[in-house]
Amino acid sequence: MKDYKRIINRKDVPAHIAIIMDGNGRWAKKKSLPRSEGHRRGAEIIEPLMDAAIDLGIRIVSLYAFSTENWSRPSTEILSLWKLLDHFFNAKLDSIKSKGIRVEHSGILKRLPALSIQAIRNAVKETRENRTLVLNFCLNYGGRQDIVQAVNRWLERRGTGEKMTMRKLERHLFTAGLPSVDLVIRTGGEYRVSNFLVWQIAYAELFFTDVLWPDFRPAHLYQAIYEYQQRERRFGGL
Ligand code: IPE
Ligand code: IPE
Ligand code: MG
Repeated sequence: MKDYKRIINRKDVPAHIAIIMDGNGRWAKKKSLPRSEGHRRGAEIIEPLMDAAIDLGIRIVSLYAFSTENWSRPSTEILSLWKLLDHFFNAKLDSIKSKGIRVEHSGILKRLPALSIQAIRNAVKETRENRTLVLNFCLNYGGRQDIVQAVNRWLERRGTGEKMTMRKLERHLFTAGLPSVDLVIRTGGEYRVSNFLVWQIAYAELFFTDVLWPDFRPAHLYQAIYEYQQRERRFGGL
């Protein structure tokens, strides 16, 4: 693989990268391991990737960890995912803190087990002064649900005759305060968005790779960013 890190223009890195971490199950199957092992390995690679992102000066990374559609999986798998989330924060929070990472979350936490809600809320609280990188965990997240809940929250405060605008909608999305996504990375070989941040990716560049998530390395991240930099972002102009 080319040394993409060396040829990346550090003055033009995407501010906000959104990652669809797909392929854990297939990675495990290929190795005759249980799917949960694929998820475990998938969680292990997050931190080295964040180190690489910080080094490049990326400000925000949104990670798709559990979609509103993932509830249709067997309950044993769902449970193992929540356990993994708890373990992730138990094991990594100190180091996340020391690196200046601010944890945020998008999605509706209510349906998660109490321990997982506590783990994520605690991580948000403990890291709220951090400024190096925002790590936005998308948990029980659906892009369409995000838009609907934003409209409903706005309706609660709506003045008579007041109209919705794009800016108002954005202020009520789970990602309020974060800029739009510049680059979407999807591992695992599927060419779709799967209800991830549908509003926020309206003008994002898309990078798809067959690499399965547990095999994704900083070198692949550098490649994605390099390819992003070769695109011409016209935003409808000339
Ligand atoms: C992505 O990996 C992780 C989650 C959806 C939680 P998958 O579990 O979808 O892995 P594949 O697509 O079955 O290989
Ligand atoms: C998308 O992966 C969701 C996450 C990575 C959390 P899926 O594996 O659930 O997506 P589909 O079912 O292939 O669209
Ligand atoms: Mg999948």
